[in-house]
Amino acid sequence: MINDIIEISKEAGEIIREGYGKNIQIDYKSGENNLVTEIDRASEKLITDFIKKKYPSHSILAEEGSGVERDSEYLWVVDPLDGTTNFAHKLPIFSVSIGLQKNGETFAGVIYDVMRNVLYAAELGSGATANYETIKVSSNDNLSHSLLVTGFPYNKTENPDKVFERFIAFIKSARGVRRLGSAAIDFCYVASGIFDGFWEVYLNPWDICAGKLIVEEAGGIVTDFSGNQIDIYSKRILASNGKIHTAMINVMKEYNN
Ligand code: IPD
Ligand code: CA
Ligand code: CA
Repeated sequence: MINDIIEISKEAGEIIREGYGKNIQIDYKSGENNLVTEIDRASEKLITDFIKKKYPSHSILAEEGSGVERDSEYLWVVDPLDGTTNFAHKLPIFSVSIGLQKNGETFAGVIYDVMRNVLYAAELGSGATANYETIKVSSNDNLSHSLLVTGFPYNKTENPDKVFERFIAFIKSARGVRRLGSAAIDFCYVASGIFDGFWEVYLNPWDICAGKLIVEEAGGIVTDFSGNQIDIYSKRILASNGKIHTAMINVMKEYNN
């Protein structure tokens, strides 16, 4: 199955690469910050058509609505283009993210970093890879020497869940904080040891599913902001190399209520 996910992720990546930089149609979903393009829809159609044909009994949860609910132990969780705002502005940081669950547990995940042509993959218990080479989280145990990444929800102007306070706290306590615009790539960069930690609120299941497994299989930890286990429906996500996890929890403690 992992080979199927890899193949279809790469094919979706081809569609996205073809559309990149072209004059494509952009629509608004829930306000002027939340975009969807014809390429998001084309990528999703390719992926969900493939799953529906090859695995007709499986359920699919897909961001742009072409999923299907069936009485199945298998659930495919699909973000056909993660980083749509970047894509629409011609910033080459975006990805395809596909996770596969059995009875609520993610056992395979693939994220394709389209423009870098790097394919991240993980299977439960088998480690994580980037272009088939094993990847590991960083070994840095000092928050003040850490490079972190975050993102903001589309209703950021309302400062939901104190996103701005958390951002300021980490800007002060870490070496640097970046905002790349693709949560799936943020997870992959934690898994490969580029970033030491990543936090974000109000992500969706398709932003989390594959990335969480890839970080965990690379030796990292993914929890909520208090260190509790999470699932793909959780609204507070903290991913790190494990070594700075408690320090990151401590920085955010005062903003949790
Ligand atoms: C978005 C990206 C972004 C994150 C947003 C997501 P989309 O996904 O992952 O990094 O900050 O919360 O919604 O809409 O480009 O698939
Ligand atoms: Ca997304
Ligand atoms: Ca998306």
